[in-house]
Amino acid sequence: MEKISGRKTIPDIRAAKASTPLVCLTAYTAPMARILDRHADLLLVGDSIGNVLYGLENTLAVDLEMMIRHGHAVVRASSSACVIIDMPFGTYEESPELAYRNAARVMKETGCDGVKLEGGQDMAATIAHLASRNIPVMAHIGLQPQSVLKDGGYKIKGRTIDEEKRLLADAKAVEQAGAFAVVIEGTIEDVAAKITKSVSIPTIGIGASASCDGQVLVTDDMLGLTDRVPKFVKKYANLSADIEKAAAQYAKDVCARKFPGAEHLYTRPRPVIVKDAS
Ligand code: KIV
Repeated sequence: MEKISGRKTIPDIRAAKASTPLVCLTAYTAPMARILDRHADLLLVGDSIGNVLYGLENTLAVDLEMMIRHGHAVVRASSSACVIIDMPFGTYEESPELAYRNAARVMKETGCDGVKLEGGQDMAATIAHLASRNIPVMAHIGLQPQSVLKDGGYKIKGRTIDEEKRLLADAKAVEQAGAFAVVIEGTIEDVAAKITKSVSIPTIGIGASASCDGQVLVTDDMLGLTDRVPKFVKKYANLSADIEKAAAQYAKDVCARKFPGAEHLYTRPRPVIVKDAS
């Protein structure tokens, strides 16, 4: 099959179920997307942008305009990863028709490869409506950050038999509805493993163990740029400390008039001396 671009396609992501683990990271800006592109199969423009970039308490105030603006930047700055954009709270739950209108707008205005939405059995009809109208959907089950108020916090899922049954039914429902992959967040290991075995689409875990078919992390968490460090995050860098150090050194240099130095200055061109030929 001929590829339409150099990007990983939705069929590539689906096919990865049987092969190597999928690498997924969040990206909200062009510079970050440019750096991550060659290392990630999937770049997720997550609604975690609300907490991470906009300093909001939770993701509920994130809107479509934010997602489209940042999504477009990520698509433009990447060429290899498959780019998926989160549908924010309030833009898809009301009806499959509303979900279609908003998801189609996200796809048209950003050029992304697909959208993600939170929900299992409750969102199956919406996922089916989108998937059958050429909108690739990644589902998101387990801990759903958009349900934080209803749940009274970020609660780990799968600890009871009832929850395990519900999660397995959620995964089956989104698979049958036509989702091409499913994020499993904040779910205990053996339940995530059972789900991964029971569905034919890739599972992407976040706080759901290495039994999943792939992993996603909020990039700013794993780079040490955020204050919150949930148990499931491994810090691969400590960029906050590096930035702090750089800013302190800059302030010191400015105050001591050591910056800018001679090498940073613009000067007049040297006058050209014309020799008298006579
Ligand atoms: O919004 C987000 O970044 C997400 C991931 C944590 C899966 O949904």
